[in-house]
Amino acid sequence: MTDEEFAEFALTIAYEAGELLLAGWQDVRPVATKSTKHDLVTQMDGASEALVRDRIASARPDDVVLGEEEGQQGDVSDNGIRWVVDPLDGTVNYFYGHPAWAVSIAVEREGDIVAGVVHIPALHETYLAWSGGGAWSLTPQGRNRLSVSKVVDLGDAVVGTGFGYDAGRRGRQGKIVAELLPTVRDVRRIGAAAPDLCWVAQGRLDAHYECGLNYWDWAAGGLMVAEAGGVVRDLDGGPGRTEMTIAGPPALAAQLAARLTKLGARDCL
Ligand code: IPD
Ligand code: CA
Ligand code: CA
Repeated sequence: MTDEEFAEFALTIAYEAGELLLAGWQDVRPVATKSTKHDLVTQMDGASEALVRDRIASARPDDVVLGEEEGQQGDVSDNGIRWVVDPLDGTVNYFYGHPAWAVSIAVEREGDIVAGVVHIPALHETYLAWSGGGAWSLTPQGRNRLSVSKVVDLGDAVVGTGFGYDAGRRGRQGKIVAELLPTVRDVRRIGAAAPDLCWVAQGRLDAHYECGLNYWDWAAGGLMVAEAGGVVRDLDGGPGRTEMTIAGPPALAAQLAARLTKLGARDCL
């Protein structure tokens, strides 16, 4: 499959998982917690991942899947393909009836993310990207190519962020954002990292950062940002990683990285 074909195939799976999640939304119930008591797992997180895994396995039995709920079984095979799946990003929003939740599916080839889909069923918004093919928002009216914000000064930026589930980390994240807030246009905490990144790609957020994200949170959304002309980086200009994921237009992301470093974000985790 080409990268574009992977993106289109991932799109069909995300649509199906989205239908499943919409159908289960009225009857959502917590079935477990993960890292802390606030890190909810509903009956639909696992159901969505099971559907995604089933569709991949049926069509491409040699591919490996890394999913938030089930992890990864086995090593990447000779075909070099690994799928990176957050079957329900924004579980707390989903549980409370807020619409910002998504299915996020990315495809890695030989370790590089080459295709990604983020589908936000309750908002009827879907985002698609493949390597070298641009990032696109899909609406009933058609496909629109995305570009990141043109804002160049952090003081004029609306900055998205997120908080982890661990109380200690939240305290550190809260101190950083409290000091950042008076120096930017505004701050948003929407509650779902994959949509946040798509909205950076679209310019609805000028930039975004969070410490502690998992790879499945940003694998697909990060490709949207890159294909829309932005970067996903850490504090030092390396690729985004769990310690810190900063997304935005290159110059703005660099300013944000410098500011976050001054605010002590290096010790945020
Ligand atoms: C969470 C969301 C949230 C972010 C957390 C993530 P989940 O993912 O993306 O916005 O702040 O760090 O864990 O648990 O809803 O899949
Ligand atoms: Ca997530
Ligand atoms: Ca999730």
